[in-house]
Formats: sequence, structure tokens, C-alpha cells
Amino acid sequence: MNICVIGTGYVGLVGAAVFAGWGNKVVGVDIDVNKIAMIKKGRMPIFEPGLPQLVKKNINEKKLTFTTNLKEGIKDAEVVFICVGTPQDKFGGADLSAVWAVAQAIGKGMKEKDPYRVIVTKSTVPVGTNEEVAAIIKAAAPKGARFDVASNPEFLREGYSIEDMQNTDRTVIGSNSSAALKKLKELYSHLKSPIVECDLRSAEMVKYASNAFLATKISFINELAQLCERAKADVSVVAAGMGFDKRIGRAFLNAGIGFGGSCFPKDVSALFKTSTDQDYDFKLLRGVMEVNDMQKDYFVSKVLRVFGDNLHGVTLACLGLAFKENTDDVRESVAIRVARVLRGHGAALRVYDPEAAATAKAVLGDNQVYYAKDEYDALKGANAICILTEWNRFRNIDLGKAKNLLTGNHIFDGRNLLVGKDAEARGFVYHAVGKWTNGSEDLNGTTRGVLLNRKGNGSKR
Ligand code: UGA
Repeated sequence: MNICVIGTGYVGLVGAAVFAGWGNKVVGVDIDVNKIAMIKKGRMPIFEPGLPQLVKKNINEKKLTFTTNLKEGIKDAEVVFICVGTPQDKFGGADLSAVWAVAQAIGKGMKEKDPYRVIVTKSTVPVGTNEEVAAIIKAAAPKGARFDVASNPEFLREGYSIEDMQNTDRTVIGSNSSAALKKLKELYSHLKSPIVECDLRSAEMVKYASNAFLATKISFINELAQLCERAKADVSVVAAGMGFDKRIGRAFLNAGIGFGGSCFPKDVSALFKTSTDQDYDFKLLRGVMEVNDMQKDYFVSKVLRVFGDNLHGVTLACLGLAFKENTDDVRESVAIRVARVLRGHGAALRVYDPEAAATAKAVLGDNQVYYAKDEYDALKGANAICILTEWNRFRNIDLGKAKNLLTGNHIFDGRNLLVGKDAEARGFVYHAVGKWTNGSEDLNGTTRGVLLNRKGNGSKR
């Protein structure tokens, strides 16, 4: 099948490469001249495991080409995917300007005699958008141009997107045209997972509902973590116990410092905005957003409780800057937010992220920040460790070595990566999320370390 993918960000570039890998002939289009030049040379604009190899392979096999010329890109395409960004606008909704511009350009690029085409939106767009996309294309296209629109939302996690696309749990295709549905079913026919065929609006809604529900799971477990800490229960054990119930599932029940990234915060906000526009107050989503904000402040408050509000003279080793593991993406990263707040209180930061140092530096700068070579370099001379991103390698940190490199003994584990008992046994004061550890403080201001009469635990700096 001849396919054109417009937009070469996380969704578009991965989509183009995977479609080509499935044997289709794919043209990737982007208005960013530098980006296209870079990709053509085999250099990826994003860090995504497996992507450089897949792109290179398909370019070499002549199944994947790239251009900045949209008209050229759609010329032979039977299916055109719109994969441009829909960032948050100033009202909390989705900024659809790129989608409108691409729809207009597609319309203008079509010819009356062209064969029938399906224009598919993969970008995350609010309910009703595809109907407008159809209207814009129709107005811009020559009379008689044959096309239909469809919605085919993506469910790819950054860091795992190739795997997610190849082994998706489901494919959602929405269209009001049976010809469009047929064409898309053909494209995905080799996948073993279910295909959900529906109308345009329901497909658009599935995407927001899925992200909002996952975000709700995270905020639920984060709020439960607050309760567990007070009630002296362990949120990880509770999550495991809940997770065995197939109706609940263990995924997305990891308590931490809150969710970030380019999707959850903007999609929850956009769904809330859609709901407000429809005169409905989506109370649960309001709570999801509030809890997410609170979780970051809660983490910072733990650091301030130990060191005081004024962090001048305090050096903190921050492990992790990306919004999650396996990516260099720092968009809406809670790790960056926490780092900024701690720096705002006067702390000097020694930061390390396996992939996101460069992207983080572009937004965090280097005022009071030292970018370390590895986690151990970050720890040198620091008063405490703050674990901010769930990179797997931080789980295996050598605590003995860490103890020798630090000048203090506090670990603030914002992702519950370490085994509390191990850290405590090494003489650390360990602060987790939703666990009663030797760094915990009950409502009377008594720490567990003091209760257990442990030397040095719970002490102020
Ligand atoms: C998310 C969805 O998982 C994808 O299905 C969706 O396609 C994508 O958004 C999108 O809309 O494009 P992604 O943003 O890559 O994918 O990241 P996730 O793995 O979902 O993590 C989002 C945030 O939640 C991260 O900050 C992560 O640290 C946090 N998180 C995740 C938790 O705090 N706890 C958890 O248990 C899971």
C-alpha cells in the first residue's frame, strides 16, 4: 500500500518506519528542513530504542523516503496519515493549528483525477475535529476530488513505541465511510489483536478516555500513597495485591512524583476542556489534575522537612530528568519541575540522566546545576539523593559506594525504586512514596527512625 505520513515526531516517524517494515511504500513528510535532512542521513531527531535501525533498514530497502514537499508526498498515497503535534493551548484545550494547516495543504495538493484516498488522523484530537478536517480538505480540494476521513488514534508509549505499534492491544479505526474502514482494516489485517471499528467521534474519544483513565490510575495510587504513609501501610504491596485482580491490573499503579510527558497532562486537560465546553463538570478529572500537582509538592516538602526551607549550602544529587525511563524527552517532566523548585529554594544540583542531559540542559540551564557523567559522579559530595525518574539502572545503584561518595545520608526516592530495608541497613535515612520507612514522620512529627532508636536516622542536617 502507498502511504504518506505527515509529521515526523514520535508518532509519525515511528509510524512511517513500522508501516514500511510491514511491506508498504511510505513517504514521510515534515516542514522542518533540518529534521528531514537529519533523518535522511540516518540520524534520529528523538531517542527511541530500535528506531534508527528500522528507519535505516527501510530507507536502504527503498520502502521509506522522506521529503519536505507535502504535495510530492501525497501524490501516490492511498492513505495519508496526519501525525502532527497538538500541544496544549492557553485555555487548556488542544492547539489544532498544525492539523488545520495540514488539512488545508492536503486539500490543495489533491488533484481531481487522483484515485480515492483515505485521510487519517493519528494526532490526538478532540471529538469533532475530524469532521472539520473533512470540511477543510473539501473546501481546499478541487471539485470532485475523492477522499474520506478516518480517525486512527495511537497508543504508543515513548521508549517502547515500535514494540507497542507492532504488538498493539487493539487498533481503533473510526470513520463514517465503509470504504475508508475497509482500506484501514486491510493495512492492519495481519495484526492478531482486535480491531475496533466505529464512528469518527467515538474513535476520537477512545484515545482521550484511554489516556485519562491511565492518568486516573496514577493519581489514584498517588493519593492512596498519601494514605498508606499515614496509616503505615506499603503502597507497593497494596498495588501488587490489587493488581492480581484482572479487573484492576497492576500496570500504572506505581506511586511516584506524578505523571508528566507530552501526552497525559495535555490530554487530561483537553478532555476536561471538552467536557466544560459540553457544559459538563468532569469532577474526577479535576481531581486527577489536582492530585498530580500535589504529588510533586509533597516530594519537595519531604526534602524541606529535613533540610529546612532555605537550601543554600545544600547539594542535592538528582537522578533522572526525563519524564520517564527510556526516553530523552523532558516535556512536562515532573523531574525537571522538582529540580527547578529545589534550585529555587537555593539548592545546588548535581544531576544525571542516561539520555536526557542535553534536552534537560536546554530547559533547565546550568545555573546551580552540574551535569554529571554518571550516577556516582552526581553523588560526589552531595548531601542527599533525589531519585526523580524511574530508570531501571537506578534500582541497581551500589549503596555502599553511594554512601562513601555522599556527605549526607538521606535518600528521597520519588519513584520507589530502591528496597527500603537495604537502604536503611546501609545507614541511609530512606524516604519513599507511600511507605513507612525510617525517614517517615507521623502526624506527631515523630520519625520511624527515632521510634526504632536508630542512630542518625531522621536527624536534621
Ligand atoms: C502515554 C500512554 O501510555 C500511551 O498509550 C499513549 O499512546 C501516549 O501517552 C500518547 O498519548 O501518545 P507516554 O506519554 O509515552 O505514553 O508515557 P507513559 O509510559 O504512559 O507514562 C506517562 C507518565 O506517567 C510518566 O511521567 C510516568 O513516569 C508516569 N507513570 C506511569 C507513573 O507515575 N506511574 C505509573 O504507574 C505509570
